[in-house]
Amino acid sequence: MSIKPREHWSSRTGFVMAAVGSAVGLGNMWRFSYLTAENGGAAFVVLYLVVTLLVGLPILLAELVVGRGSQRSPIRALVHFGGRAWTPLGFVFVAAGFLILSYYSVIAGWTLRYAGIVLFSGFDATIADRFEDVASGWDAFAFHLLFMAVTVAIVAGGIKSGIERSAIVLIPALVLIVCGLALYAATLDGATQGYAYYLDTDFSKIRSLRVLKDATGQAFFSLSLGMGAMLTYASYLGRDHHLPNESVVIASADMAIAFIAGLVVFPLIFALGLSDEVGGSTVGALFITLPHAFAGMGAIGRVVGILFFAALIVGALTSAISLLEVVVASAIDGLGWSRHRAAWVMGIAIAVLGAPSAWSTEVLGVIDQIANNLFLLGGGLALALFVGWVMKDPIAEVRAGAEGIRWFFLWRTFLRFAVPVGLGFVLLQAVPDTWNAVVKLFES
Ligand code: TRP
Repeated sequence: MSIKPREHWSSRTGFVMAAVGSAVGLGNMWRFSYLTAENGGAAFVVLYLVVTLLVGLPILLAELVVGRGSQRSPIRALVHFGGRAWTPLGFVFVAAGFLILSYYSVIAGWTLRYAGIVLFSGFDATIADRFEDVASGWDAFAFHLLFMAVTVAIVAGGIKSGIERSAIVLIPALVLIVCGLALYAATLDGATQGYAYYLDTDFSKIRSLRVLKDATGQAFFSLSLGMGAMLTYASYLGRDHHLPNESVVIASADMAIAFIAGLVVFPLIFALGLSDEVGGSTVGALFITLPHAFAGMGAIGRVVGILFFAALIVGALTSAISLLEVVVASAIDGLGWSRHRAAWVMGIAIAVLGAPSAWSTEVLGVIDQIANNLFLLGGGLALALFVGWVMKDPIAEVRAGAEGIRWFFLWRTFLRFAVPVGLGFVLLQAVPDTWNAVVKLFES
């Protein structure tokens, strides 16, 4: 039997665009802005930036090291460096990919639907009240299926001609749109109040473990960490890449786009005097408040709305691709399936699994909490321990392509002690919170 050599990215830019595409998505716009609103503005933003640097970045590098070092998809990669005992963690990663994509695609479906509305008819003032209609039921399910189909088609195309080619076009477009919108938002009347809300730091709000939990969960979600997505992308890299540089570029781009998205969202909300709508925010915040804002802006609102939803769709698509790739790569490596078959079979399974989220935004919110609080944070903790204690000489793997840097022992020490302790602490809050959310869902 001849083994096909593993497909690789065709260029450094290709990999970086795909990885940034994975990181930048609904998380940067939808999740980041509703969590910021819920947790009192900039204090949360600062905390999120700190956690990204202290915990996100070391774990991102750890994922890149395991992926590139093994040249394997997550389950096999863990077994390669840690032995059979690590198979279950690999399965947890793949399960997380299933779970996250199942509801992520539902939200992406809302985005498609809104894009359609704004493109063909424009929003009217009742749009805010119609969120539940748009967001649940058969329609929501249909748009979720449509989005999944596009995602599957791209992943089926492979690394170079599917994933890389789409990211190289889509990510620069997204950056342009988001920056353009931020400039436009700066000219609005309410911009100053929006910035004040977004950037005025009330550090007294940080004194709760819950805010820390949300900031950590957001750092993981936004950087696509804790379930092997970055690991999988790195498995298509050659050993000439400077992994520390790549991780810094990916994390910086991700933080920058989340930050700029905030510069778009908050001025728009305040310009139209909708700030009390944000106060009662839930998963729907972005989809209730912003269309309402666009509806109040006349013709220009239509243009801005189209661009805004286009950026969201692009972000969602490149992220969904990376989620599906984790599952697909595992099926190719583990079951010997063709890429085509893996993409369609797994895509259909995930689409079906998304049905409950498509029928209830409450279910969706709870699944989001389970995925983040348990799967991603738990996965991150396990991965830190894996690279910190189990894997033999991860530092040698970092050095390949990054010779001459001497401080990597610090990185490993960090993964051994500081990161697990920090994540363990956050999980103390995250586990009971998730439990309560699940109980509440079943009571309602
Ligand atoms: N990071 C993406 C976002 O911000 C979502 C995402 C893609 C993701 N791949 C992931 C989240 C893997 C967790 C794990 O929208």
